[in-house]
Amino acid sequence: MKALIYLDPPFFSNRNYEVIWGDAGEARSFQDRWAGGIDHYIAWLKERVAEMRRILKPTGSMFLHCDWHADAYIRVDILDRIFGGNNFRNEIIWDYKGWAHKKTSHFPNKHDTIFLYSKSDKNTFIPFSETWTREEYVAKRKQKIHIDETGREYIFDKRGNAGQRRYLDVALADGQPITDVWSIGVLASSSKERIGYPTQKPEALLERIIKCAGDEGEIVLDPFMGGGTTIAVADRLNRQRKPITIIRHF
Ligand SMILES: C[S@@+](CC[C@H](N)C(=O)[O-])C[C@H]1O[C@@H](n2cnc3c(N)ncnc32)[C@H](O)[C@@H]1O
Repeated sequence: MKALIYLDPPFFSNRNYEVIWGDAGEARSFQDRWAGGIDHYIAWLKERVAEMRRILKPTGSMFLHCDWHADAYIRVDILDRIFGGNNFRNEIIWDYKGWAHKKTSHFPNKHDTIFLYSKSDKNTFIPFSETWTREEYVAKRKQKIHIDETGREYIFDKRGNAGQRRYLDVALADGQPITDVWSIGVLASSSKERIGYPTQKPEALLERIIKCAGDEGEIVLDPFMGGGTTIAVADRLNRQRKPITIIRHF
């Protein structure tokens, strides 16, 4: 049984993605056009999500990556129905930054949505924090910095232990819990990670997903593997190695 499933299916974008692959110049592509419109797309994806839930461990998690083209339909028509609204855990916003092109009718789209659902209320979740630099922490708190008799810097807590000293060295060591908004840049064209796959996701994104949902040795499945980012990161993080069978698209 799988501890974690990450799905990054076609987004209902009405585009074809093509890449010239390897030295032999082989053309590989996948289509994201749906003759029957959104109903066809949702029915197609729903069938696959139901299978994914079936093979998930009772403590397992599923992350479904999508964007504005179909995210509302996916949450309501697929995920809430198959997993149950009570097993909704997060709507993660992947704020991917990068250059924005001015639009005449709306704000430029600069995020994807990753839904996190669990199979039950016993889901494994390992929270983690990211560290601040002193400058980031000071800029965020916008508070006067005091120095005690030993030279340590502190501020006065406003919440929680209101009025108590909060030492900067302790705050920096504790870090800041990762929230549901993830600011991770898209892969630059010069990035060493880039393998030439058109919808390749950054390893930092998969690293967060894999780390929060389980431990080393567990099974991670990506049924829409594209350039194989999930597999590369899972392997680096010592998740279980299993031989797989590649089945043609259907
Ligand atoms: C958005 S890409 C995944 C990119 C991947 N996460 C990465 O980092 O490279 C979607 C993938 O789904 C595959 N795909 C499209 N239709 C499919 C189908 N019917 N069954 C399985 N995979 C499909 C495409 O070939 C493509 O590799």
